[in-house]
Amino acid sequence: MYPIVKKEQLADKIFLMDVKAERVAKTCMPGQFIIVKIDEEGERIPLTICDYDRQKGTITIVFQTVGAETTRMSSLKAGDAFHDFVGPLGCPSELVSEEIDALKKKNILFVAGGVGTAPVYPQVKWLHENGVAADVIVGAKNHDLLILEDEMKAVAGNLYVTTDDGSYGRKGMVTQTIQDLVSEGKKYDVCIAIGPMIMMKFTCLLTKKLEIPTIVSMNPIMVDGTGMCGACRLIVGDEVKFACVDGPEFDGHQVDFDEML
Ligand code: NAD
Ligand code: FES
Repeated sequence: MYPIVKKEQLADKIFLMDVKAERVAKTCMPGQFIIVKIDEEGERIPLTICDYDRQKGTITIVFQTVGAETTRMSSLKAGDAFHDFVGPLGCPSELVSEEIDALKKKNILFVAGGVGTAPVYPQVKWLHENGVAADVIVGAKNHDLLILEDEMKAVAGNLYVTTDDGSYGRKGMVTQTIQDLVSEGKKYDVCIAIGPMIMMKFTCLLTKKLEIPTIVSMNPIMVDGTGMCGACRLIVGDEVKFACVDGPEFDGHQVDFDEML
């Protein structure tokens, strides 16, 4: 069993949990994910790791209630436990295998949309801990749905917050801010975009035009998470890939978003 040591509501329908899972916490890296199951009959829910504490042996997950099982999950509290907590699954972000000196010379832009802010956070934090400052755009529908702003501010080089309705920060979608920053003279060597599929699609269409190589983190339906069922299949370039073992990160300019959607 994997006890929940902390539970917090971050926004309407968005929850954070710290879960004791020592083996996962010992080896996980930014970009990887876990699959959680409430009990023996529970659905398998894949979630990207939001943070980890190797000393305490905990993993932080952030999830949104979208169906029956995530609603059931949101009713759990500190002291309750998950039946299964499998991971770390998938490949770590490519950034963490690059030379730090090379990363320091790069202008890196993260684009986080909604709940996708959670998986962006560990990457920006890892870079910050290694002396690399990245620009981060965080987009939310409105101010009430903005999550992890203080945490992100503490680790980002520059943080740009956007809301679709203009209730906080810049008004408009993340793509508007990417265009604005580039028009203001910012140059980026790489963009990492994580959020809803439609956001990643339109971010990639724009960054292709702006000639900024872009990495996306795909979260299709998953079953086993180990490359056996084929549920998470997607087309990247001319090849069939499985998000769970070949990803979840891919070259966004090669992903067939229309087929995914
Ligand atoms: P949302 O719908 O509130 O969108 C967040 C931001 O994305 C918006 O504020 C906007 O700036 C941008 N965006 C949305 N549509 C856009 C468009 N057409 N063009 C340009 N930008 C656009 O996000 P949400 O409700 O928090 O998203 C939930 C979705 O995110 C779920 O489907 C979930 O599965 C997915 N998600 C993905 C990952 C991942 O690893 N890729 C992680 C967590 C959540
Ligand atoms: Fe089964 Fe990826 S989830 S192959």
